Amino acid sequence: MRDKILLLAGFVIGSLIGWQAFPLALYKTEEQPMQFNHKVHTGEQGGMACTDCHIINETGRFQGVPTIAKCAECHAAPIGSTKQEQRMVDEYITPNKQIPWKIYSRQPDNAFFSHASHVTIGEMKCEACHGPQGSSESLKPYKENRISGYSRDIWGVSISGFQSESWQGMKMSKCIRCHTDRGRKDGCIACHK
Ligand code: HEC
Ligand code: HEC
Ligand code: HEC
Ligand code: HEC
Ligand code: HEC
Repeated sequence: MRDKILLLAGFVIGSLIGWQAFPLALYKTEEQPMQFNHKVHTGEQGGMACTDCHIINETGRFQGVPTIAKCAECHAAPIGSTKQEQRMVDEYITPNKQIPWKIYSRQPDNAFFSHASHVTIGEMKCEACHGPQGSSESLKPYKENRISGYSRDIWGVSISGFQSESWQGMKMSKCIRCHTDRGRKDGCIACHK
């Protein structure tokens, strides 16, 4: 009996350690080049719309993360007194250098995704796929899967695969599930070009 309890205890402890250590081993952590506070810019506080910075142009092309020219419209000289803003002006705006943001939602090159189809035609909200990032006050570190080279956000935060929030994770199975729910039957080449 005692042996069995010890064995069981060993198993439980081993599993707990594994559960903590596995993500550490699987993901490489990289900091973003600087912090960014969405909340001071958007919503009630900042008043800017998502599409003021994340532009979908006339031809329907999504321009992704804004370039430094957009930031310079307001931050050519610091307007506040934070170190972060001063650093941005000195290191990026004055020398006119782009900020090398790491993209959490980046899909592999062979997967095709169009914001115009989903946001403009499909009338989906940014939050449906990206969660609360547009109202966040700081940036989490970027995590890259050492085996696949993908951002952790593709698999989702939970290693088990069962995500606690509907917007977590963006694997192929999830794209296809939503398409099927909405009556779309896409061939492989709809998404793989
Ligand atoms: C002042 C310009 C600005 C506005 C307004 C803005 N964003 Fe952003 N957004 C950025 C910058 C800069 C980044 C890159 C840093 C980061 O990842 O947050 C970014 C990144 C993002 C990302 C991360 C993409 C990825 O996968 O890495 C999402 C999602 C996003 N914004 C959503 C929103 C939403 C939703 C709104 C409106 C509620 C919004 N943004 C308004 C500037 C802006
Ligand atoms: C329409 C004007 C406008 C644009 C465009 C804009 N900002 Fe801001 N930004 C503000 C305002 C207003 C504040 C708040 C200033 C304060 O009181 O500190 C701010 C604050 C900041 C701060 C300091 C806040 C902190 O928490 O450290 C940073 C850094 C910053 N913005 C980065 C950016 C970046 C990067 C871009 C381009 C993607 C950008 N901003 C574009 C208006 C703007
Ligand atoms: C149907 C899901 C979905 C919706 C809705 C959606 N996105 Fe995305 N977003 C994605 C995916 C998937 C990617 C990665 C695309 C890629 O890597 O090719 C992405 C990438 C991004 C990026 C990084 C772009 C880059 O390539 O640098 C930003 C910024 C972003 N989205 C902002 C937004 C904003 C703002 C909205 C609302 C106006 C929005 N998204 C709505 C799924 C979505
Ligand atoms: C929450 C639901 C949802 C998710 C998640 C989603 N889609 Fe879609 N997708 C749609 C809808 C709805 C349409 C049809 C829009 C329209 O009416 O044309 C669509 C259309 C498309 C199209 C066809 C676009 C065109 O112009 O013909 C492609 C390609 C596509 N999605 C790729 C993806 C990929 C890749 C992912 C995952 C990274 C994804 N989608 C995730 C709902 C979704
Ligand atoms: C609705 C869009 C969509 C459709 C339809 C789709 N895929 Fe994908 N596929 C993706 C996305 C997004 C990824 C990258 C994310 C991932 O690996 O789950 C991917 C990844 C893959 C991968 C790489 C898997 C990996 O883990 O790296 C293979 C192989 C693949 N798809 C094959 C197919 C085949 C074969 C079909 C047709 C039967 C198909 N896909 C249909 C969106 C799609």
